[in-house]
Amino acid sequence: MRKPIIAGNWKMHKTAGEGVILVQELNALTNAVNDVEIVVCPPFTALTAIAAAIAGTNIGLGAQNMHWEEKGAFTGEIAPGMLKDIGCTHVIIGHSERRQYFAETDQTVNNKLKAALKAGLKPIMCVGEALVDREANATERVVGAQVKGGLEGLSAQQVAGLVIAYEPIWAIGTGRTASAEDANAVCAFIRRTVAEMFGQASAESIRIQYGGSVKPDNVAELMAKPDIDGALVGGASLEAESFSKLVKFK
Ligand code: PGA
Repeated sequence: MRKPIIAGNWKMHKTAGEGVILVQELNALTNAVNDVEIVVCPPFTALTAIAAAIAGTNIGLGAQNMHWEEKGAFTGEIAPGMLKDIGCTHVIIGHSERRQYFAETDQTVNNKLKAALKAGLKPIMCVGEALVDREANATERVVGAQVKGGLEGLSAQQVAGLVIAYEPIWAIGTGRTASAEDANAVCAFIRRTVAEMFGQASAESIRIQYGGSVKPDNVAELMAKPDIDGALVGGASLEAESFSKLVKFK
């Protein structure tokens, strides 16, 4: 069966020193967990220090973004190979904040997914509808287009190993979680879309996270749903105590 994956997206929080303390505290609370994949995604400036701090632990390291080119004149950007080189295993691609504030599109998400896979990184591709979309009953249309656009040109085998995070924009950082039923319905829709594009085997092995105000008091209900295989967590990942409770959701 699919191994649950709980990932912490620290966004623009924590210096390197603060991040090291956080992962040390986290490791003390979660080092016995072996049936859940744990990933932390600190800012770029903390990655190297945290790679050293988590060496030999069960915690994986993800970046929050990357460029799709291998190198070149792209001031301010970070290449996939650079992330791999400093010990990243994962990378978040197309978070809604990147789409909203930094003009990322399904096309750039697709370019980045291909580049991440080529570099040997495991992408966590984010999709999710805005409140206006949900209110207009357009959730499946919007999320379906993001999934199709993002995954275009990938092989069934590549898709089988992917993680997709379904994050309704209206639930991010708002304290307003999607109900477990609604979250599962969209995750199931994403899985059906993957099945149509790449076949049943890819759909069954791809892991789909829910994200958007996941907290210790709602994680168990979300994780109990059949199509929710994990969580991508912002706010509640910034403290070891709360993040460890999400990792130990059972
Ligand atoms: P949140 O963020 O848990 O603070 O809502 C989730 C995310 O943006 O990944």
